[in-house]
Amino acid sequence: MLNDFSIETTTQGVLEIKKREVFHMFNVSVNGQDYSSERDMSLMDFLRDVIGIISVKNGCKEGACGTCTVIIDGKATRACVQKLSRLEGKKVQTIEGFTHRERDVLVYAFSASGAVQCGFCIPGMVTAGKCLIDQNPDPTRDDIKKAISTNICRCTGYAKIEDGILLAAKMLRENLEIPELKQTGKVGEKTCRVDAPGKILGTAKYADDYSFEGMLYGKNVFSKYARAKVLSIDTGIALEMPGVVAVYTAKDIPGKRYIGHLAQDWPGMIDIGEETKCIGDTLAIVVAETMEQALAAVKAVEVEYEELTPVCSPREAAAPGAHQIHGEGFMQFGKFNIPESNLFSHQEVKRGDVDAAFANSIHIAEGTFKLPPTEHAFMEPETAVGIPDGDCIKVITGSQGIYDKYHELSNYLGLPLEKLRIQSALVGGGFGGKEDMSVQHQAALCAYLTKRPVKVSFTRQESINYHPKRHAMEIYCKIGCDENGMLQGLKAKLISDTGAYGSLGGPVLQRACTHIGGPYNYQNVDVEGNAYYTNNPPAGAFRGFGVTQSVAAVECLVNQLAEKTGISGWEFRYRNAIRPGQSLPNGQIADQGTAMAETLEAVKKEFEKYEASNNYFVGIASAMKNAGIGVGLPDAGRCNLKIIDGKVNVRSSAAAIGQGIHTVLLQIVCETTGLTPDQLVFITPDTKYTPDSGTTTASRQTVFAGQAAHKAALKLKADLDNEKKLEDLENKEYIGEFDFKTDPMGSPKPNPVSHIAYGYATQLFIINKEGKVVKVVAAHDLGRAINPQTAEGQVEGGVAMALGYALTEDFPLKNGIPQVKLGTLGIFKSTQVPPIETHLIEKNDPNGIAYGAKGIGEIVCTMGAPALQNAYYKKDGIFRYSLPLENTWYRKLKPAK
Ligand code: FES
Ligand code: FES
Repeated sequence: MLNDFSIETTTQGVLEIKKREVFHMFNVSVNGQDYSSERDMSLMDFLRDVIGIISVKNGCKEGACGTCTVIIDGKATRACVQKLSRLEGKKVQTIEGFTHRERDVLVYAFSASGAVQCGFCIPGMVTAGKCLIDQNPDPTRDDIKKAISTNICRCTGYAKIEDGILLAAKMLRENLEIPELKQTGKVGEKTCRVDAPGKILGTAKYADDYSFEGMLYGKNVFSKYARAKVLSIDTGIALEMPGVVAVYTAKDIPGKRYIGHLAQDWPGMIDIGEETKCIGDTLAIVVAETMEQALAAVKAVEVEYEELTPVCSPREAAAPGAHQIHGEGFMQFGKFNIPESNLFSHQEVKRGDVDAAFANSIHIAEGTFKLPPTEHAFMEPETAVGIPDGDCIKVITGSQGIYDKYHELSNYLGLPLEKLRIQSALVGGGFGGKEDMSVQHQAALCAYLTKRPVKVSFTRQESINYHPKRHAMEIYCKIGCDENGMLQGLKAKLISDTGAYGSLGGPVLQRACTHIGGPYNYQNVDVEGNAYYTNNPPAGAFRGFGVTQSVAAVECLVNQLAEKTGISGWEFRYRNAIRPGQSLPNGQIADQGTAMAETLEAVKKEFEKYEASNNYFVGIASAMKNAGIGVGLPDAGRCNLKIIDGKVNVRSSAAAIGQGIHTVLLQIVCETTGLTPDQLVFITPDTKYTPDSGTTTASRQTVFAGQAAHKAALKLKADLDNEKKLEDLENKEYIGEFDFKTDPMGSPKPNPVSHIAYGYATQLFIINKEGKVVKVVAAHDLGRAINPQTAEGQVEGGVAMALGYALTEDFPLKNGIPQVKLGTLGIFKSTQVPPIETHLIEKNDPNGIAYGAKGIGEIVCTMGAPALQNAYYKKDGIFRYSLPLENTWYRKLKPAK
């Protein structure tokens, strides 16, 4: 022990005992290979950054998600919370250390079970599953649920991951041969995902898995306050620190400083003298040789603030004399604009005569519902790498639309489009939260200015603080029906909190307003919505796109109206369900493929069974959701086919964020041409090669990119029918583009076509006497299931998300600052998700657009909240008006203040 200390004389002649620098090596065994490190660090950093094992994913670095799971001495363990100094003599195993047989079995079992969506959680799940199988070769589903209960999957709802582990255990236990996958790739087949093997083994790359020679690390200096005036930014000390290459501030942005999807109201960095508008605002970017050096320098950037009182709610924002959040102005549609008030967007849907409708109503239900913001919690935090290439800049990132970033980066850097290239890495989930720019512009800027590759990543908490959330809304709603329960009219007022920046707050509010009428046949609606700026984190797109909120409100009242009429919630919906040829509340005539009533018929038996039971309570809700952007806006999908080396290269920039669009496009090409999957290669989105197919949003890519793929494939088929072989068509490219004209909002047409199609659905949520959810039944009209397994996975994942929204997930804020971490968000775990019974209803013309598919990505998560509100009301008679629902098995009643 004494050897660790030395006795030294100071300049004043005083003897001082000092701790001696002791040189120590940290030893660790990974996959049977011994390694040493001079520095102590987290095992995850060592595996990823030092020895290059990228199957260990960084989802949080807080011990909360399980994406970094490894096996240490036979126990599944999170690598991010293990220090090398505690691993002396221990044996670490990752997927790379599994036997070939184990790896092959796991790839087959997870692929065939449809366990993979975005894939970011999957290596962690595979590792946890393999560890369980080592200890218990014949696990039950419950054993598996427990084994993966500390691993979060935000995409799948866990069931198919459990199926994958069950199948792998059986194959390993019984030493079964791996069956040959004989896939035609035809529409309707459960074709395995094209990207599954790489995601399962963890070899496929997300943005953070890329590194380059001489790469630097950029780190944002974020605001300390949601609202404060920035008096000064002193970068002097930071610039002198070891490894620091540069510190950039607002003045270093060469192009247009304001970014944003529609309104360019979001400054890339806040300048001295300006006000911060939310906690996610960036004041400076530090660039250094290592991440540690960048982090240290961020702390050394000295910012002087004048702290100001933030505007924390839309009601405060709307009050007379409220602080004007964007009083400094911003660019909107190419013009500098100083908004007159905090009102960001106003939307209206008015048809018929609502007053007369209520006068004709025998029963009325009304109420005001309070709905919180929701965090997307995609498992992959945001990362981008900017790479200089001559006088051009390439950016590798995970995003929901590379062309959105392409155009915005051109403005931000002041570079023409031809000097930019955006290449998509795998996208570890998005759910709407990766539509806006986050790290891409900063990585591009740093690479442009330093002339070296620069990686910019958010930590999990930075991700939570920065990206736009699901909008918090307050919704007043009133509906009326006649004595037979036939709906007469609806009045609604929606107030939405779009936070500091507009993002997609306008269209989200518009969809909430256009869908609050529900999938029913009545014509009198009076809906108004207002979205206000506040100093809260921005709100934008989130799976459901406003419809989740409006369904959460109105479907509770539909159930109340059913009770007042004296009929069941099922019967009430069946009487009112929109049928082909009838007009929706927004005026659009329902097409022949409309199968709303069929979704109700599919759940009827289960509804009646549980309604008659004394031991269970069944809640019901229905919904409709548009496919495509619609409302008169351009909405093109694109997919080209190019023959290279005798294979069909499928080229589309439609982002695969977990929904499986690449496999869908492949199946459409196989169906159309008669080719098989092994004759096709999917090219990941890249502005250099793949055409702009718009953003992955609005459940649109299956329809729009899908029909574009079909059109290109028809041209290829014509050549193949002409006795040409693929080899004869080398380098020939077939262009596929599809757009669909819709009518704008406020169209004078009596029956405007707002969207190309609507999907319809009914879901049942069943709780037991203790209030625990024991089963979900989900019936979905999706037109046509291109890949039924993928569609089922969308339903299961969406239902799991809806369970969280209804029961456990909250996003409390204090002075505009989130009071949550990933581990406290309340995301449903494997042990909490009940069995989900899915019914896929295919009524569309199979020869129609995209073989009749309508898209299913968003509607799946819209019905859980009102259905569960209904189930708990049946249990205890309390009609709940806010989410997450209180006084349930999952969340106790808040004590009165
Ligand atoms: S990265 Fe280790 S638990 Fe999330
Ligand atoms: S597949 Fe599990 S988080 Fe996406």
